[in-house]
Amino acid sequence: MNIILLGPPGAGKGTQAEVLTKKLFVPHISTGDMFRAAISNGTALGVEAKAYMDKGQLVPDAITVGIIRDRIAQNDCKGGFLLDGFPRTVVQAEALDELLEKLGMNIDAVLNFSVPLDKLIVRLTGRRMCRGCGTIYHQLYHAPQKEGICDSCGSELYQRSDDKEETVKNRLSVYEAQTAPLIDYYEAKGLLKTINGDQPINEVMKALGAALGQEW
Ligand code: AP5
Ligand code: MG
Ligand code: ZN
Repeated sequence: MNIILLGPPGAGKGTQAEVLTKKLFVPHISTGDMFRAAISNGTALGVEAKAYMDKGQLVPDAITVGIIRDRIAQNDCKGGFLLDGFPRTVVQAEALDELLEKLGMNIDAVLNFSVPLDKLIVRLTGRRMCRGCGTIYHQLYHAPQKEGICDSCGSELYQRSDDKEETVKNRLSVYEAQTAPLIDYYEAKGLLKTINGDQPINEVMKALGAALGQEW
């Protein structure tokens, strides 16, 4: 299955992708994670991406489409993929359609997470990430057993540099202006399935399963 996770910052895309990737046996492709990996590796891509990410702005379409073109062409995507955080503009969505057409592939479903704005701010400012394995936590909603330490690998937890309140507000307005139009884009193609993301993590997982015709 080829799936897109769509939704504002903090909606729970990454959290659900951690589980979906295992249930569906498809790779989890997060452009945000790819940019963060490039930043920590100190590559030219990382340096360029960081300047935009720190301001809560989108990395230019040409760069982002380029990394997705390379990633989707890899062998592990032949049996399906889970896109998280891409596409994020109409230009990216059109580029993806073109790319998939050339590869003889298509999108099966676009899972759109709906969460009220005030909840998104609380989720983002309370998020903590594992430096070792990338597991996503939250100070209140998904706390590790030992404060500041990852349950899965024992590494230290950190706060994403774009999760400070000022940057969070920019990211949310960038979402409204540039990404929310994709809801209509995919609705018009008959691919959109909107999920109530404002419920406990397990319930969201069940709702995603139901949207995909699975019982989890
Ligand atoms: P990216 O990393 O994709 O960030 P984002 O889209 O802003 O989304 P987040 O990762 O913040 O949220 P999420 O939906 O994954 O939520 P999560 O599961 O972590 O992008 C970062 C930056 O990279 C962008 O700003 C841009 O600069 C650049 N970029 C990336 N892709 C790009 C593209 N295509 N084009 C251009 N630029 C691009 O959950 C959030 C918190 O809530 C966690 O603490 C979690 O524990 C908690 N939580 C999750 N679910 C629940 C629940 N059901 N109930 C309570 N708490 C929950
Ligand atoms: Mg994410
Ligand atoms: Zn970890």
